Amino acid sequence: MKIKSIGILLILSAQMNLSAQSFSNPLSIPSTISATNIVLSVQNGTVSYYPGFITNSIGFNGNYLGPTLLMNKGDSVNIQVINTLSDTTTVHWHGMHVSPQNDGGPHVTIAPQATWNPRFKVLDDASTHWYHSHLHMHTAEQVAKGMAGLIIVKDPTEAALNLPRTYGIDDVPMVVQSRAFTASKQFDVMSAVDSVVLINGTKNPFVQLPAQVVRLRLLNGSNMRAFNFGLSNNAQFFQIASDGGLLTAPFSLSRLLLSPGERAEVLINLSGLQGQSIFLTNYGNEIPNGIYGAANPAAMGMGTIPNYASNGINGSATHLIRFDVVAQTTNAVNSIPASLVQLNPLNPANSNITRNLTFTPMMMGGGGGLNGPFVINGTPFDMMTINYTIPLNNIEIWSLTNNSPIAHPFHIHNVPFYILDINGNPPPPSLAGKKDVVLVRSQQTVRFITQFTDFADEVFPYMYHCHMLVHEDEGMMGQFLVTSPATQLSETSNNQKNIEVYPNPNKGYLYVSSKQKALMVLSIELSDVQGKVILETEASVSHSSPQKINLFQENQISPGIYFISIYQDNMPAYRKKIIITE
Ligand code: C2O
Ligand code: CU
Ligand code: CU
Repeated sequence: MKIKSIGILLILSAQMNLSAQSFSNPLSIPSTISATNIVLSVQNGTVSYYPGFITNSIGFNGNYLGPTLLMNKGDSVNIQVINTLSDTTTVHWHGMHVSPQNDGGPHVTIAPQATWNPRFKVLDDASTHWYHSHLHMHTAEQVAKGMAGLIIVKDPTEAALNLPRTYGIDDVPMVVQSRAFTASKQFDVMSAVDSVVLINGTKNPFVQLPAQVVRLRLLNGSNMRAFNFGLSNNAQFFQIASDGGLLTAPFSLSRLLLSPGERAEVLINLSGLQGQSIFLTNYGNEIPNGIYGAANPAAMGMGTIPNYASNGINGSATHLIRFDVVAQTTNAVNSIPASLVQLNPLNPANSNITRNLTFTPMMMGGGGGLNGPFVINGTPFDMMTINYTIPLNNIEIWSLTNNSPIAHPFHIHNVPFYILDINGNPPPPSLAGKKDVVLVRSQQTVRFITQFTDFADEVFPYMYHCHMLVHEDEGMMGQFLVTSPATQLSETSNNQKNIEVYPNPNKGYLYVSSKQKALMVLSIELSDVQGKVILETEASVSHSSPQKINLFQENQISPGIYFISIYQDNMPAYRKKIIITE
């Protein structure tokens, strides 16, 4: 560790914005759900951050944010998302590798009072993901009100490492979000005065941590802001994971920049510090201009955002949470592992295509093109336009060029990627693991490589977008289909071959049948192209006893394009596009 002179420390503290902030609220630790049958109720709630004011919020199974979902790689999870709001919503499993119908993008809406029932097998390696609303044009609003939660995926490789993993004790989840409030102390989505930082929904938090190696799972769940995390004593810490899971080895650093949507797992060594307090600090004073959170959000001083300059946390160092160091636990981890996992980045020589995506302001405008809307390749998002159709298993290089004055965190659904280079240079260790969000600074070109495996679907697209949620809502988003000539099945299954659905196209009735002699108990769902389930039924079928489904008379379904999804033992078994004619 580098020893800084007292003189430098004094200068550093002079730049800090630490006036009168007392950290007196115990950090809320989200409850956990580890069952594979998960019920998430999206509900209106209230929180109280200012004496005499009630702030309206939205939570999952509570007032604000949601429980941490603990999943094991290989689990089959069955989730009921019950929307008790009077508004439509969606829930997206950010970072998870699932089929598009289960991914919870803007096409898979949940109407008020409706329940959405995604089912999928957990294919991800150990990682920290999150879930949040993805409602078209309302993501920023619903997330700001509290529609977010963490997902922790575990696997045997991670379990074999000597890492802290006692949830809430030495493995601490931290959803870090800056928030603005209106005069009546309601969440203000469009304001640039997001000067209140909540961690797990707690304002001015402190937490007791044991005097040993502690793991923090950091999520930047802010709508717009990047954080530059560091410890107030400037101690080194160790990054062990990025968005998609563990790095090859712990990487020692004293600052970690995380933009909206990004996650990192870090180890901090508190050994020998019992009785002391240190802070997790946002070194906003060191964020380069051109990133939301710096003194100037525009690169090279081009333009301003209204009221940005009056937000005291922009461009200054601010403490976020106080760590009070207490006695060691009985099974303390006291060392940092030398290495973590083997990663196998894709070889650019094997790529099938390079796609170029360029970010620009839609128009330059008064703010110097800083205030948005921003667009990708000149066109705003259109629900009805598929921007790319990608053959299943394609290996692709995406080259992202930012020709706007502000940095944008670019996110892609479904697959993690490896960054190949940033302006031609290899990524630093923090960015060399599996990623699903990358901050592309003004005038930068970032190239990443990924492969579109497992899930093909002719109708439901996956999304890519800026994770500054106001930018996303305003159209800095696109969508792609992954298609396969061989099969239309979205989820892994052995039964696609055994189930038959005919005739297709049909004139108002369908048969569901099996090639097997034994009876198969199936649950059958018909959904429209927006993903809304319009018919649900159960059937026992075999080769000699198909089930007839009468679409017109009994079910009042009108001609059009639909999807049939068939589940066996709650797991996806068959999926196909169905055309119903007059
Ligand atoms: Cu975190 Cu498309 O989302
Ligand atoms: Cu996502
Ligand atoms: Cu953006």
